[in-house]
Amino acid sequence: MAEVRKEEDTVAYEIVDRIAWVKFNRPEKRNCMSPKLNRQMKRVIDELEFRDDVGVLVLTGEGTAWSAGMDLQEYFRDSAAEGLKGVRHSQREAYTWWERLRWYQKPTIAMVNGWCFGGGYGPLFSCDLAYAAEEAQFGLSEINWGILPGGGATKVAQLLMPFRKAMYHAITGENLTGKEAAEWGLVNEAVPADELKARVTEVANKLLEKNPFAIKATKDAVRRVGEMTYDNAEDYLIRAQESLDHFDSEARKEGTRQFLDEKSYKPGLGSYDVNKQKR
Ligand code: COA
Repeated sequence: MAEVRKEEDTVAYEIVDRIAWVKFNRPEKRNCMSPKLNRQMKRVIDELEFRDDVGVLVLTGEGTAWSAGMDLQEYFRDSAAEGLKGVRHSQREAYTWWERLRWYQKPTIAMVNGWCFGGGYGPLFSCDLAYAAEEAQFGLSEINWGILPGGGATKVAQLLMPFRKAMYHAITGENLTGKEAAEWGLVNEAVPADELKARVTEVANKLLEKNPFAIKATKDAVRRVGEMTYDNAEDYLIRAQESLDHFDSEARKEGTRQFLDEKSYKPGLGSYDVNKQKR
């Protein structure tokens, strides 16, 4: 069937109780990423990033797929027909929104409802957390059609999985179920499909209780320290906390006050009430 979906319809979203539910919205093409979808996704996540009514972004898929990876027709074949310029342009459109998501202001959760292949590992890794339906299928299918897992996919497998498992996954092209993906480290957890949205909502609500500046600083730190020596990481974390104190000077004082003076919560058991903090 020829592609008829308009660019603005390739992504759908709704905001409910400060959670932005963003969907890959090409179910008839198993949500594979075309240049149109990549452009629209960039627009949507840009639009949501600094909105006060959004505290967490969830990325999921309409229909049976999360995303079947890059669009072999529109992303690969059509772009290649335009030569190197076309290829580089398409890559830029995809990689730009994945990068934006990796360093997003708000915490992000991949809710993997179905197929997740190849290029889909880019946005999967961009999301801070990932939850999958037990029945979902994950695959580095590139080897099955004669290429290597590019666009960061090999790096994602190597970063998230133990070496032997990453190697097996990449060179055999065998799929993992959501359950196996959780055991291998690709996602945080797998639950039955009909419980997935409730579980993700629960986790999102947990994140919504926290200080948003502290979450942003923490998630960036987790990503950044991986490639630092211990001493560089220690120094980076000191500076990151000092920068937090500078821009959100009441946070630490308020968290400490509620525990030590007000005795209204215990940090070991939950978050301070961020709504009581002066801004
Ligand atoms: N690129 C382009 N088109 C794709 C696509 C992709 N990555 N994935 C699915 N589609 C298209 C199919 O060509 C088909 O189009 P048509 O209806 O015009 O014929 C439509 O989406 C439905 O796909 P279909 O294969 O019939 O669905 P399915 O539910 O039986 O199988 C998959 C789902 C995901 C297993 C299968 O579509 C597939 O293997 N896709 C490619 C996955 C892949 O290798 N991705 C890596 C890219 S980096």
